[in-house]
Amino acid sequence: MSKQEVVYLNGNYSPKQETTLSILDRGFLFGDGVYELIPIYNKKIFYIDAHLERLKSSLQQINIAPSLLEDVDIIEIINRLIDQNNYDDYFIYIHISRGVDQKRNHIYSEDYKPTILIMGENYVPFNRDVIINGKKAILEDDYRWLKSNIKSTSLLANVLIKNKANDNGAYEALLLRDGFLTEGSASNVFMVKDGIIKTPRLSNKLLPGITRKFLVDLISLHHLEYSECDISKHELLDADEIFCSSSTNPVVPITQVNDKIICESAGSISLDLYKHAQDYIKNSYK
Ligand SMILES: Cc1ncc(COP(=O)(O)O)c(C=O)c1O
Repeated sequence: MSKQEVVYLNGNYSPKQETTLSILDRGFLFGDGVYELIPIYNKKIFYIDAHLERLKSSLQQINIAPSLLEDVDIIEIINRLIDQNNYDDYFIYIHISRGVDQKRNHIYSEDYKPTILIMGENYVPFNRDVIINGKKAILEDDYRWLKSNIKSTSLLANVLIKNKANDNGAYEALLLRDGFLTEGSASNVFMVKDGIIKTPRLSNKLLPGITRKFLVDLISLHHLEYSECDISKHELLDADEIFCSSSTNPVVPITQVNDKIICESAGSISLDLYKHAQDYIKNSYK
């Protein structure tokens, strides 16, 4: 990668460390924006159509006209960043805020001009040994808002919850709303019971993860048993296997929840899916 990593901001390309934004940007003042995080494998963009579709949906739900994306060729910008920065396996972060206002005001002006930032991020996925060992999770009350299907940049609750998990030596917090699983603080959650893979159905209470979609595609491709259903706290703690999914780590086996050992190490279905995901990425993107 070149020394000066280049990012895209509102039509301009400039070095990451030197790129700055106005203090009146609503993304900074209110978290008034949405984002995407997209894996790059071997210079190729992963599940781009699904990511752009979700971005459009997020924009629509916060009243930013998604037609904005017709004037900006996101794929071309990402490819230019990949070329210019020599990204092989990397992540692209897209952040669209409602832009810069004249003054700090909850009510946005009619003629706002969104800020578009696109830049690379270097998250290092867990290696195979970590996956086989599995990770610990804690349970937490899902006290976030009821529009968790929007990939909003307002992430304060997720940040506090993820840090609580981290402070407790855990990888993730599994969230319960009214006693039922929604998702993780930064991942979707699956469990396995008696050979059936289960995950909560999509709703306003959880993010429609692109990795969740990828795994559901793999589950169908490999004819595994699958159900989208309500999962109570009791069912979760009684699972044979649990795993989390996100763009940075498609399958992370959870072997312990609070003090409860779910399994000694990653379960066989979790590991099979992990391998299917790795193989798919290798065959389709490498
Ligand atoms: C709250 C939440 N749920 C689920 C996910 C997984 O989404 P994806 O698979 O698109 O990365 C994320 C990822 O950041 C997240 O923050």
